[in-house]
Amino acid sequence: MAQNIYDDAKFFKNYSNLDRSTKGYNGTFEWPYLRDLLGDIKGKKILDLGTGFGWFCRESIKEMGAKEALGVDISENMLTRAKELTVDEVFKDKIRYQRQDLENIDLGDEKFDLVFSIFVCHYIKNIENLFRHIYDHLNVGGEFEFSIEHPIFTCCKHIEPNFIPLPGSSNLIWPVSHYNNEGDRVTNWLAEGVIKQHRTVATYVNTLIKVGFTITHLQEWYPTEEQIKANPNANLHMEIDRPLILILKVKKN
Ligand SMILES: C[S@@+](CC[C@H](N)C(=O)[O-])C[C@H]1O[C@@H](n2cnc3c(N)ncnc32)[C@H](O)[C@@H]1O
Repeated sequence: MAQNIYDDAKFFKNYSNLDRSTKGYNGTFEWPYLRDLLGDIKGKKILDLGTGFGWFCRESIKEMGAKEALGVDISENMLTRAKELTVDEVFKDKIRYQRQDLENIDLGDEKFDLVFSIFVCHYIKNIENLFRHIYDHLNVGGEFEFSIEHPIFTCCKHIEPNFIPLPGSSNLIWPVSHYNNEGDRVTNWLAEGVIKQHRTVATYVNTLIKVGFTITHLQEWYPTEEQIKANPNANLHMEIDRPLILILKVKKN
């Protein structure tokens, strides 16, 4: 069984206070990019992996005209909140939530048109198994779009991901080490002992190709000039120096 840190009381309390938890995707800077990359999803059957509070399930139905959505997550806390937020009549019979560990996901004989996942795959140890499962449960022509913490963000082994001062200068730099040393990374983000999986960009890309996908888009996301100017307190100009988010979109032909 995978670590289920979102059911840790301290972690969940801190996560619940983040902008992305209180405001949904309006509290994130990368959402406009991810949404535009999705294109037209009207009438599609959606699978949201690691759905958390279910923001994508609701967004896809209410704002983007998807036909139905299944949100899967390992965390009881996250799914309870997702269900509380999914009470509007417009979601009735269109959104389902299931508690499942993505390390051993079982989708029965269901097929989907679009699989989506924000900030989840960097928690998954057996990524090939998950990608293969996604491939098997997509209809032909179906797509999988996901984001993860960029491997340049997750790579370092002995320090928390952060900018550090360049010796002898007031400039800040982003340290990169252990990049090719894949595996567990234990951080103290929101609580002690949070385990994430570091993999290189090459491993993500080659694993997707190995299971049969065609890569249609890869982006090392950074904020736009407008976002940087409009949010002076968010220190977004720092994001230009190193990519925080890796976004991939792939297709089953
Ligand atoms: C950063 S949150 C993102 C939530 C959601 N995708 C969003 O954008 O709001 C990561 C989610 O992945 C879930 N998760 C982590 N490991 C998982 C696993 N092995 N199986 C299922 N869900 C998992 C967590 O419980 C959490 O809800």
